[in-house]
Amino acid sequence: MKHVSLSGLDVSRIGLGAMTMAGTYTTGGGLDDSESIRTIHRALDLGVTHIDTAEIYGPFHSEEVVGKAIRGRRDQVVVATKFGLVSHSGDSPAPGVTDSSASNVKAAVEGSLQRLGTDHIDLYYQHRVDQNTPIEETVGALAELVAEGKIRYIGLSEAGPTTIRRAHAIHPVAALQTEYSLWTRDVEDEILPLLRELGIGFVPYSPLGHGLLTGQIRSVDDFPDDDWRKTNPRFTGENFQRNLAIVDEVQAIGAEIGATPAQTALAWLLTRGDDIAPIPGTRRVARVEENTAADGIELTAAQLERLNNLTPAAGERHDEANMAAIDR
Ligand SMILES: NC(=O)c1ccc[n+]([C@@H]2O[C@H](COP(=O)([O-])OP(=O)(O)OC[C@H]3O[C@@H](n4cnc5c(N)ncnc54)[C@H](OP(=O)(O)O)[C@@H]3O)[C@@H](O)[C@H]2O)c1
Repeated sequence: MKHVSLSGLDVSRIGLGAMTMAGTYTTGGGLDDSESIRTIHRALDLGVTHIDTAEIYGPFHSEEVVGKAIRGRRDQVVVATKFGLVSHSGDSPAPGVTDSSASNVKAAVEGSLQRLGTDHIDLYYQHRVDQNTPIEETVGALAELVAEGKIRYIGLSEAGPTTIRRAHAIHPVAALQTEYSLWTRDVEDEILPLLRELGIGFVPYSPLGHGLLTGQIRSVDDFPDDDWRKTNPRFTGENFQRNLAIVDEVQAIGAEIGATPAQTALAWLLTRGDDIAPIPGTRRVARVEENTAADGIELTAAQLERLNNLTPAAGERHDEANMAAIDR
């Protein structure tokens, strides 16, 4: 597995997202911690060193699973987690409340360290920009955690250009995590050039388009009723049918070189720069094997050209409420 440097933090260029290990797309059953742990172990055996989780996933459950999986193998893993979408200011934690105040950062990190079974987090991200807390306060608190040795590098997620510059002026930001895939290319205009100007690494989330780019989803009827994607504009109505045509094209290009659509989507992403480390998410061994094998896939110039010119996705990448939470 090739590696990339996220502003000095060395990671395998394909990582593993642990969000669905806590459900998240669907709150209903179907969780299998043993399979999730086997998935993480298989990933590590295959050379993946970068595991991404967050306090809000579950909440807490994904971090707990990751913590169990890395016990005894901590030195092999770059552990990335996120704070800021659970408030700890009341008597009990409040999931879904945006809070990046210094006091909340300090409270959140203790819980994450405990659940992850470690004395340090390698990459600690603010999950969403908190419009009620100046980014300087948040990054100031993170810089103190770096000085204390509780975290090694700091990251931002879905931050806009102004926030990125303000944060980076207080303490170097190692990575930005934002959605980026064949069907979500917004970051190419302004964000990626800015990151390159500042020397900040980039971690694309949802690199498989929440699963659609794998070609395995042909109908939303297959999703449980409470599946989050049923409210996502790209998975609804006519948009969904139009977006399936994009997947068909990805599938056709991959078939020419014996690659699955998921591998093709990841291989394309890896050509977008040597400062990019996507984190495809899965909780299944067979899928982590498939996704990780994208490291060895070479697309021809003609195939890249066709992928670059795919029809843009129909529909916003998030619903209105989720878009409103995104800093621009
Ligand atoms: N910073 C943020 O705000 C943010 C937001 C979203 C996600 N993330 C991070 O990014 C990671 C990845 O994003 P994501 O999980 O939203 O989307 P994704 O990686 O684009 O797709 C994951 C979905 O595809 C399925 N899948 C994965 N590999 C597959 C394969 N080879 N064949 C068929 N299906 C496959 C997974 O199902 P199973 O899991 O059931 O296998 C899951 O439902 C997350 O785990 C999380 O760590 C961050």
